[in-house]
Amino acid sequence: MTDINVPDGVSNKELVRWVTEMVELCKPDNVYWCDGSQEEYDRLCEEMVEAGTFIRLNPEKRPNSFLARSHPSDVARVEDRTYICSIAKADAGPTNNWMAPKEMKATLTPKFDGSMKGRTMYVIPFCMGPIGSPISMFGVQLSDSPYVAVNMRIMTRMGDQAVEALGNGDFVHCLHSVGMPLEAGQEDVTWPCSPDPKNKYIVHFPEERLIWSYGSGYGGNALLGKKCLALRIASTVGRDEGWLAEHMLIVGVKSPDGRKDYVCAAFPSACGKTNFAMLIPPKPFQEEGWEVTTVGDDIAWIKPDENGRLHAINPEAGFFGVAPGTNYETNPNAMDSIKGNAIFTNVALTDDGDVWWEGMGPAPEHAIDWHGNDWTPASDKPAAHPNARFTAPITQCPVVDENFDNPKGVPVSAFVFGGRRNSVVPLIQQSFNWAFGVYMAATMGSEMTAAAFGNIGEVRRDPFAMLPFAGYHMGDYFGHWLDFGRNIPEPPRIFSVNWFRKGEDGKFLWPGFGENMRVLKWIVERARGKSKGYETPLGWMPRYEDMDWRGLENFTREDFEKAMHLDRDLWLKEIAMHDDLFFKLYDRLPKEMTFIRELLLSNLWRSPEMGLATPRPDEQEVVMAQAQAE
Ligand code: OXD
Ligand code: MN
Repeated sequence: MTDINVPDGVSNKELVRWVTEMVELCKPDNVYWCDGSQEEYDRLCEEMVEAGTFIRLNPEKRPNSFLARSHPSDVARVEDRTYICSIAKADAGPTNNWMAPKEMKATLTPKFDGSMKGRTMYVIPFCMGPIGSPISMFGVQLSDSPYVAVNMRIMTRMGDQAVEALGNGDFVHCLHSVGMPLEAGQEDVTWPCSPDPKNKYIVHFPEERLIWSYGSGYGGNALLGKKCLALRIASTVGRDEGWLAEHMLIVGVKSPDGRKDYVCAAFPSACGKTNFAMLIPPKPFQEEGWEVTTVGDDIAWIKPDENGRLHAINPEAGFFGVAPGTNYETNPNAMDSIKGNAIFTNVALTDDGDVWWEGMGPAPEHAIDWHGNDWTPASDKPAAHPNARFTAPITQCPVVDENFDNPKGVPVSAFVFGGRRNSVVPLIQQSFNWAFGVYMAATMGSEMTAAAFGNIGEVRRDPFAMLPFAGYHMGDYFGHWLDFGRNIPEPPRIFSVNWFRKGEDGKFLWPGFGENMRVLKWIVERARGKSKGYETPLGWMPRYEDMDWRGLENFTREDFEKAMHLDRDLWLKEIAMHDDLFFKLYDRLPKEMTFIRELLLSNLWRSPEMGLATPRPDEQEVVMAQAQAE
């Protein structure tokens, strides 16, 4: 049998046992334990250049950076091949694919048997979150992909540091094979995978804290620390242990008086999440001393400390961001993060050895597209795949937060939830309390078709932006959030935002991501009990004068009121549509969801003349007005 080559520093008995067992099953030619060093990273990258998997980019333009082109069948997460194999089907719930663990193992064991023949098995120990943090968790991934090994070095704290901190403790077992063994003499391809879409499996066994992934080498299917561990497995661990694993970015917001608050925000994929995570305040805010810093762009793990105050960490150490659409105008911080030491997957290669993608800037006259073919602006296909990615260390982000690596995490002041709605949902709104906030997050969604004004298009509900990532029944997930809020003395305030509302002319009402700081300022000051708002049937909302418009003079009160308008009839329709989700989750739906729905309906009936025409002053204002009058 292949020697498993356990390094001296490894003391974890379960790790050695498991590697031995998996080597017997997968039958790799070699076993290599990653130490996480720069020297190792450079060597693996160079080996991939020699094998044709990586193209080294022009060192003058993009130092120490590489381009990979995947197989055209292997370009994104495969949700229809993703399974939650809990023991009971009911625990996975109706929004996850399920198969009995025994049956899934019987299906996959023969596939893994010999799956690494002719390849090296990389043993990749990693820590999700800062080393030494009580919120962090360990994993070890066994993979036959060197592409995975080098990406995991960027995305996690990987190698010796993880082995040492793990000691003999528990870790999530993550087994991964690209599913293309090499028979003797068979030549390899540059992106091995299982091209048959039905022969890819991304499988979670939540009770065993175990992940098996077969057939794909791409992104969240293969970098198992990310969606698989940090969301699907961690959400079940969080449910069992009383904490939250969320699909949220984390930003720090510093006001001119030096006070800093941290905000966690959930957005479905492609709703401006990366922009919000690296937001640049408009000039007048900057000049006054407002600063926004990045703790994370995709995932947050949140635990109460001994006083019940919530603290969040970003379990990841890098960005695995969507390249198309990223440019120096919309997101200069992201662009600066990928100036060097980055891996690009499925973007175009320019003639001077740099990268290009749609939405990056002027198109080059000629490039090589993500398939490896000649491309010119006259081509009818995009040069970069729409889901092309960059991988880069978060420490390269110019606005990385000083507490990014703090084992204590950062204190959480507010939660923000943002869907993608053409109509109905206002620009910004604060929930009355935690339970209302949970309702609002549970019912967030994205409109699939362009809605005519006055109609609601087809809405895909994406509760908490967690639909593809909750490792258990979505109804239980709502219950966990409600329960969690009951046990903390001062729960953070919960807000909803919608950047995507359109006017009668079909154009976006909100002038763009670059102005989001105005909303964020209201949120942070509201969480501090400072900014004003007024009560509406759905929650608290700012009036035009409650927000800071310096530098945005051409956005009028009228524009704002359109972006904030609550239409009673549309809201009645909207709330009726929430039932589609609630009926689906009926067997585990917390009773609070039904009651809050009723409360919202009764609020809507109470004030037929609602909207911003007659905002009610908030109580504080009434008291102040009275005091002044006296
Ligand atoms: C991601 C996603 O890639 O949410 O982060 O799809
Ligand atoms: Mn994501």
